Amino acid sequence: MTSEFAGLRGSRDIIAEPSTRPEAFEGDAVVLFLYEGGVGSGPAADIDRATGGILSRLVAAGELTGKRYECLPLLACPGVRAAQIVVVGLGARECCDAGVIHRAAATATRQLSGRPRTRVALAADGSWTTRQIEQAVAGGIVGMTGQDLYRAEKRRSRFGSTVWIGAPVEAVNHGAIIGDGVNFARRLVNMPAEDLYPQTFAEEAARVAGRTGLEIEIWDESQLARERCQAILAVARGSSRPPRLVMLRYRAAGDRPTLALVGKGVTFDSGGLSLKPSDSMLTMKCDMAGGAAVIAAAATIAALQLPVNLIAAIGLVENMTGPAAYKLGDVITARSGTTIEIHNTDAEGRVVLADVLDVVRELKPAKIVDAATLTGACMVALGYDVAGLFTNDQPWCDRVAAAARSVGESVWQLPMYPDYDEQIKSEVADIKNVGEGRWGGAITAAKFLERFVGGIPWTHVDIAGPAFAEKPRPWIDGGGTGSMVRAFVELARDGIE
Ligand code: BES
Ligand code: MN
Ligand code: ZN
Repeated sequence: MTSEFAGLRGSRDIIAEPSTRPEAFEGDAVVLFLYEGGVGSGPAADIDRATGGILSRLVAAGELTGKRYECLPLLACPGVRAAQIVVVGLGARECCDAGVIHRAAATATRQLSGRPRTRVALAADGSWTTRQIEQAVAGGIVGMTGQDLYRAEKRRSRFGSTVWIGAPVEAVNHGAIIGDGVNFARRLVNMPAEDLYPQTFAEEAARVAGRTGLEIEIWDESQLARERCQAILAVARGSSRPPRLVMLRYRAAGDRPTLALVGKGVTFDSGGLSLKPSDSMLTMKCDMAGGAAVIAAAATIAALQLPVNLIAAIGLVENMTGPAAYKLGDVITARSGTTIEIHNTDAEGRVVLADVLDVVRELKPAKIVDAATLTGACMVALGYDVAGLFTNDQPWCDRVAAAARSVGESVWQLPMYPDYDEQIKSEVADIKNVGEGRWGGAITAAKFLERFVGGIPWTHVDIAGPAFAEKPRPWIDGGGTGSMVRAFVELARDGIE
């Protein structure tokens, strides 16, 4: 079941066949990508010719438009060996980017994976860049993987083999690793809190570290106490599940600056004594999605052997209401020495991250980026699909934004005006864990985190919206989305100054 990255050194079911012709492929289906405005000159044109013009006639009749994510199966086409062709739309050529291609490939494989398939080909367009091919391959893998962890009768099945026609071997291999990374994060998010809690999350981390060649360190509760991580320990006290801090390291060849990835790993957020209402609590197994993104990105970066030195750190706790739970009015001394007055135990993510950021700061990375399902306020501001960005260093934030957008992950920066700092001042401690009232709650949360990064260039990514989809989309099943895995891989790709 836990198949991600297992194929790294062994057999693979994602295969590149750079020179196979789409009409000659023998198997269940061939997926063709179509831009708006006609069959053009790529694999779609090859099939059009082989079939005596079926595609161009459908286009002329208006049955096939090439609009984004339109997905049309054509059965038993003459002149084509495969049992069916699936044509998936990319929209206007000039608006098509790696993100669109990723989702289009995922839409096609998601549709086909509703039934078992032995062999499916997807035909890369000759005009695609290497990055676009990788994102297409990753999308294909994400689309055919669903929410079937706990169902006897699977709704999706991974193809026996997936053949990428017209794509170079290296791009396909890289894309397959990236797709595995996204699916790894999705699987962790989809696991219920009874199965994925701090200890089992740490075990998953150890397993993936073994597969991808990451060094791993796991701090248990006594190590956390020795390290003065009182903020993490405070949040964890309400749960019977002890906390963990997972640290992963990857070193590239040569002397390079270090990138630190930090993740919020609240494996369940009941809100603590500031208990959430039932409706808001229902999906709170997703509150470790930042941690999942960070560990999945680290594993992917190591598997791809990207040119960066990496530290990934995840704070793992369950936020519960047990008899020892931390309380409103408590004052906690975080690892950095900063004291935090607790005004709301549901603002737990920032309290956990205070210590994780301090551990990372001490290691003097060149840059820090964190991912956290931190605030409902960020969803009020930006909706479901867009992550919020917050920074103390504009050029670094611009790089994070560019990396995310280059793979179709939507992000939008929110301001960090000094005035917001006033809002987290406390009457009894250095700071308190919520702002004055709820307005600007995503920003006051970010301002809180900023206190713990020690001036190192840092960007915070609030993924409360995009991390978890309550409903399926054409390209992905409902549940964990793997938000920011591809963005962080891209970020690591060009190295860090
Ligand atoms: N984990 C939540 C934020 C969240 C909400 C993530 C919805 C995903 C979907 C976080 O710990 C939280 O509860 N934040 C509070 C902060 C408030 C008490 C200041 C919130 O956003 O309401
Ligand atoms: Mn909370
Ligand atoms: Zn939370």
